[in-house]
Amino acid sequence: MRFEQSIKVKAPATVANMVCGFDILGFAVAEPYDEMIVTLREQPGISITHTDDHGLPTDPDNNVAGVTLQAMLSELTIPVGFDVTIHKHIKPGSGLGSSAASAAGVAVAANHLLGELFDKELLVQFAMNGEKLASGVKHADNITPCIYGGITLIRSIFPLDIISLPSPQLFVTIVHPQIEVKTADARSILKKQVYLKDAIKQWGNIAGLVSGILQSDYALISRSLEDVIIEPVRSILIPGFDEIKERSKSAGALGGGISGSGPSIFMLSQSLETAVSVEQQMQQVFQKMNLLHYTYVTTVSSGGVQIVSE
Ligand code: HSE
Repeated sequence: MRFEQSIKVKAPATVANMVCGFDILGFAVAEPYDEMIVTLREQPGISITHTDDHGLPTDPDNNVAGVTLQAMLSELTIPVGFDVTIHKHIKPGSGLGSSAASAAGVAVAANHLLGELFDKELLVQFAMNGEKLASGVKHADNITPCIYGGITLIRSIFPLDIISLPSPQLFVTIVHPQIEVKTADARSILKKQVYLKDAIKQWGNIAGLVSGILQSDYALISRSLEDVIIEPVRSILIPGFDEIKERSKSAGALGGGISGSGPSIFMLSQSLETAVSVEQQMQQVFQKMNLLHYTYVTTVSSGGVQIVSE
């Protein structure tokens, strides 16, 4: 452990839920990602600086990276401190795991500076404190793929049971309309009970999706990308959602839906060419509505938080 040492990390955006796997499935993408510089200090305390204009809190008690570090520091017997500088490229409230990127990024960076004291599972535990602060609930379907990379299944949170799913190559098209949906709000509108017939359909789709991923069976992935529980409620918050889904599938997408709690929408494709055609369809829908939006054509990324320099 070297005091005054700094490292820079990249923390990827993540797509939680993967349509039918509410709170249990998620994947990391190659773009966009946040950048963070973390410095280990001999003096106790946490300082947080943002180099962007998202107006996020810098008080460690109210900052997702701050509470993640506090959870980690509470496990240490020696008093140390951290300075954190965050440059967010993943807009808060986008549904692309912005808070998870801050929490997971700082957890991986601080752990590296401490000489890899903690395993990945513990880093997820620390970072979940950030998600609790951001959304009111400890969920791990953004944090886990952000730390582990690839597609991850969180079979259980208490106790934590994480399974990494080796996936075939998948291209991802994302559109982020410039409206903000807070995860806490998008959770509060969900029904607390589901019909058994819907639950049966949903767990059939989850099992199908996981099998399709493991067997590289694109047709099975495609027909399993269906959500009969969450999407019908949340999609009303996203203008143009149904049209985007329809046009993306006509352009050849395997399927997709709301990214995390929205408002971003993602679609999976088997080829880059299809992913680009899907992007055009998405752009046309929002252009017609005069709704400012950003798009990304990227891939499911096997890497999680990466150390860029030290
Ligand atoms: N599973 C969470 C939700 C992800 O859908 O509320 C939030 O990004």
